[in-house]
Formats: sequence, structure tokens, C-alpha cells
Amino acid sequence: MTKVLLVSQDKGGTGKTLICRGLCEILPGAPIFEIDSSPRMIELGKRVKFFQMRADRDEIERTGGAVSRSEFDPVINAIASSTLPTVVDIGANTGAPLLAVIAGLTDDFSAAGVEFGLLVVTTAEPGAVAEVPKLLSIASPWAKALFLIENRIHGPVDPKVLSKFGSSATVTCLMNQVMDDKAAAILQAGGLASIAKLDANALNEKFGIAQGSRIRRDLTRTRLEVMQAVRLPAEWMVAA
Ligand SMILES: Nc1ncnc2c1ncn2[C@@H]1O[C@H](COP(=O)(O)OP(=O)(O)OP(=O)(O)O)[C@@H](O)[C@H]1O
Ligand SMILES: [Mg+2]
Repeated sequence: MTKVLLVSQDKGGTGKTLICRGLCEILPGAPIFEIDSSPRMIELGKRVKFFQMRADRDEIERTGGAVSRSEFDPVINAIASSTLPTVVDIGANTGAPLLAVIAGLTDDFSAAGVEFGLLVVTTAEPGAVAEVPKLLSIASPWAKALFLIENRIHGPVDPKVLSKFGSSATVTCLMNQVMDDKAAAILQAGGLASIAKLDANALNEKFGIAQGSRIRRDLTRTRLEVMQAVRLPAEWMVAA
């Protein structure tokens, strides 16, 4: 069976792509499918296969949803043909409709040798928390593993709510990464993949050793903490 990990949260800006970048660091051979309106993980080059979502709300309503459903055809076909453990970064507002399409194709995916895991990302924002049970309930009948990452970028999620989710999903936590502005700019430009390749001497020359070493420390810690947050789903992906 080929394991495919769907990374989902329909609220935007919650850390899905950062989490996928962490999975790329921990699973250097895994291909990535990115579903979004424009490509983000460009630093990963050919490892990423990009699927553009274009249908706007008017078009979807005019066609009774047919446009949005057929938009998923290329990604459905690509998932069915994958032979390596694959990460799927599902952009905002796309998770629930894509999971619903997959739910209708579970027999076909089993026949194609594909096994799904779902990794939901949530922040403490009410709009993000509200999406969690929706996504978990669509996937729980057919996903072989359910994971939830509490991204503390906006503080901790209510522990009572989190422990309720913990009854169906394996929960891990990613702390808010406080970093030097220059470190944030490097992360923005090159993702996590650029961090292991940072040239300490060049940074020290450019920013002075105090800030240069702070930038390196901040980025190295961020990379390791994101990798730690995705360790369990990554282990599921490569387990026999
Ligand atoms: N724990 C964190 N600490 C610091 N910065 C974070 C954290 N999580 C995410 N970010 C930053 O927040 C921004 C939004 O994250 P990201 O792009 O991963 O969200 P997303 O859910 O993929 O967004 P979209 O819905 O637009 O696809 C990025 O700049 C990312 O680096
Ligand atoms: Mg994203």
C-alpha cells in the first residue's frame, strides 16, 4: 500500500504549508502535492507537483458544484498513481470538498493500493478550531491514521477542546516560533529547506556575529521544532 498524508485545515494561514515543509525535511524522498491558487513551495523544485484551484464561488454555484468537483480530477488521478509515501498540502477552503470526493472513492483508492492518513492543523482561532471536527469526521471512516497539530502561533487551544479531539486523533504541538526579523525573511524566502544549508560565515559577515548567530539559532530551532511536531505522522508514512 502507498501511504498518502492529507494535510488540511480550511482556515487560511494556519501553518499547513509550514507543516508540509517539516514533513519534507524529515522525509527527504517523499513527493509533495500542493493544492492552492498559486505555488508556495517553490524552493522544493521538482519534488512538488502543483495543482491549481481556480473555480470561483460564482462559477461553482452556476454549475451546481460540477466545476469544483471536476477541478479535483488531476489530483485524484495523481494520488491514485503515487507509488511513494506522498504529502498533500491542501490549501484553505479546499479540504472539506476534497475529502468528500475522496470519501466517495474509497474502494477505488484501496484497489489502487492507496492508504490515507489525515493531518489537521489548528490554531486557537475559533474559525480554525471549528473546522477540526468537520474534517476528522469526514475522514474517520476511511483514513487509517488521524493526526492533529496544535499550532500555537496564536496561543494555546483550549485544553478541554483539544482533549476531546485527542480521543480520535494523535495530537502534537508546535510552539509559536519567535524569531529575528531577518530570520523570518530567510524562512519566508527559502522555507525550511534553506536552513540546513545556511552559511554561518556569510551570515556573520553580513549581519555581524551577534545577529548572524541569532538568525542561525532561530532558524535551526524552528526547523527542528517543526520536524518534531510532524515526527509521528512521518513515522506512520514510512511504517510497513
Ligand atoms: N508556529 C509558528 N510560528 C511562527 N510562524 C508560523 C508558525 N506557524 C506558521 N507560521 C507562519 O505563518 C505563515 C502562514 O503559515 P502557512 O503559509 O504555513 O499557512 P497555511 O495554512 O499553509 O496558509 P494557506 O491557508 O494560505 O495555505 C507563514 O509565514 C508561516 O511561516
Ligand atoms: Mg499553504
